[in-house]
Amino acid sequence: MSGTLDGKVAFVTGAAGGIGAGIARCLAAAGASVAIIDLDGAGAARTAAGLGVPAVGFAADASEEGAMTAAAERVARELGGIDIMVNNAGGGGRNMDELGVGLPFTNVTQAGWDAQLGTNLRTAFAGCKAAIPHLQARGGGSIVNVASIAALIAAPSIPAYAAAKAGVVSLTRSLALELGPQDIRVNAICPGFLWTRAWEMLAELLKAGVPEYADMAPRDVFLDQVKRCTPLGREQTPEDIGELVVFLASPGARNITGQEIKVDGGITLNLVAN
Ligand SMILES: NC(=O)c1ccc[n+]([C@@H]2O[C@H](COP(=O)([O-])OP(=O)(O)OC[C@H]3O[C@@H](n4cnc5c(N)ncnc54)[C@H](O)[C@@H]3O)[C@@H](O)[C@H]2O)c1
Repeated sequence: MSGTLDGKVAFVTGAAGGIGAGIARCLAAAGASVAIIDLDGAGAARTAAGLGVPAVGFAADASEEGAMTAAAERVARELGGIDIMVNNAGGGGRNMDELGVGLPFTNVTQAGWDAQLGTNLRTAFAGCKAAIPHLQARGGGSIVNVASIAALIAAPSIPAYAAAKAGVVSLTRSLALELGPQDIRVNAICPGFLWTRAWEMLAELLKAGVPEYADMAPRDVFLDQVKRCTPLGREQTPEDIGELVVFLASPGARNITGQEIKVDGGITLNLVAN
């Protein structure tokens, strides 16, 4: 079976599970070879092994320039080059402090702020910087940065995360302008609500603040938020994000660069209206 990405090599960060693993599955289904790195090296290797295409998965810290340079060199050596870079690593952190929780803003700690900027913005810097020479060596390519709708709206409960993701959108535009003449396209995707580890913590936050949620399981709090906020009314999946990554990396998107595209079931229509 031939796919739109036959012969291409994709490198996805933070893809042991969650959205990144969905992106990896979609890229593989479209014919690409896939490399995965994650802080969870065993999870990265497991996801890679299940893709059914030439794939590698190993541990690396996406927020460290040196680690990402070495990882990109390993991927190019083992899979033959890099055509598609997906900077997906990120998320909420392991606890509320690392999530940089605000409300009031004076509760945000410097450690939480720095953790969010490291996990959600420096990862995009390090991933782009490591991949660009390899994309240049191929004569072009596609970078997709996973931002968030939090980059585009006021997000007072998670101001550090939102600022980091707004930084990812800004970096996407700067690089798109610089790299356009080299046929390297750079775009960002802004997902809405997906049930992943980050949302488990956010649901706990909502439970603490909304009396009617007090006795509900975190997963049910999440589903209620989806129902209330999403015009399309359905829960979205990692594959909903992965399908857009495949399109952005494909020849069909050859004239699209510097864009941030929401995949959110229409949530932001509500948030802007309210
Ligand atoms: N879940 C949502 O509702 C949602 C919404 C908008 C944006 N996003 C973004 O989507 C991306 C994926 O998040 P997810 O929801 O799948 O979360 P997740 O926690 O399930 O997955 C994130 C993965 O990234 C890895 N990771 C984190 N920091 C890393 C680092 N420095 N180096 C290597 N790997 C690292 C984690 O180990 C984890 O496997 C993140 O950038 C997140 O901010 C998620």
